[in-house]
Amino acid sequence: MNIAIDGPAGAGKSTIAKKVASKLGYIYVDTGAMYRAMALYFIRLGVAPTETDKIDTMCADADISIEYQNREQVVVLNGENVNGYIRTEEVGNMASSTSVNGNVRKKLVELQQKLAASTDVVMDGRDIGTVVLPNAEVKVFLTASSAVRAERRYKELQAKGVEADIKQIEADIIERDERDMTREISPLKQADDATFVDSSYMTIDEVVETIIDLAK
Ligand code: DC
Repeated sequence: MNIAIDGPAGAGKSTIAKKVASKLGYIYVDTGAMYRAMALYFIRLGVAPTETDKIDTMCADADISIEYQNREQVVVLNGENVNGYIRTEEVGNMASSTSVNGNVRKKLVELQQKLAASTDVVMDGRDIGTVVLPNAEVKVFLTASSAVRAERRYKELQAKGVEADIKQIEADIIERDERDMTREISPLKQADDATFVDSSYMTIDEVVETIIDLAK
């Protein structure tokens, strides 16, 4: 059984997907983390998002794999656990820019499909229901308004003691949505057979229950 959850940045996909996976005893696969690891690889090499030729060829040398430690996903980039480096806004924005590249996507989609073929998964991303797992038994398109998503992100940063400007966060979210939805290859869009869930005014548990009900 495969459950695909797609949606824009900050809709709560990873929190929800993790809980659904834990309740059902499935493996949670965070595909955004793979695009983030690839982005980190380019940032470390000083490659700019505009250097599309370099991105096209150099992605072949980034060896990205996934391991599980206590059911937690660990992303390994050329032998190094990079979980601690991929959650920044800089890496997220670079991931959005570099994930438009066809070679980057091909490489990571293959890895994602292999994982899903070997076990029951809850996988989240942008193109899971449309491209990666078109035959997933359950597909959800999870979204929330940009204002609500910015507020959630702002509160997360505040809780960590990080200064942030909520208007800037919302502007970044809108820019990232636009890029993810309008790119040529595998843009973010709802699969025809996906269930649309707007989490703007739902609690985390309500969304989790909605997906568990669909799975049942
Ligand atoms: O879900 P996230 O914020 O960790 O994803 C970071 C970026 O990676 C996102 O802006 C677009 C890209 N991405 C993608 O193109 N396809 C996916 N399946 C997952 C993420």
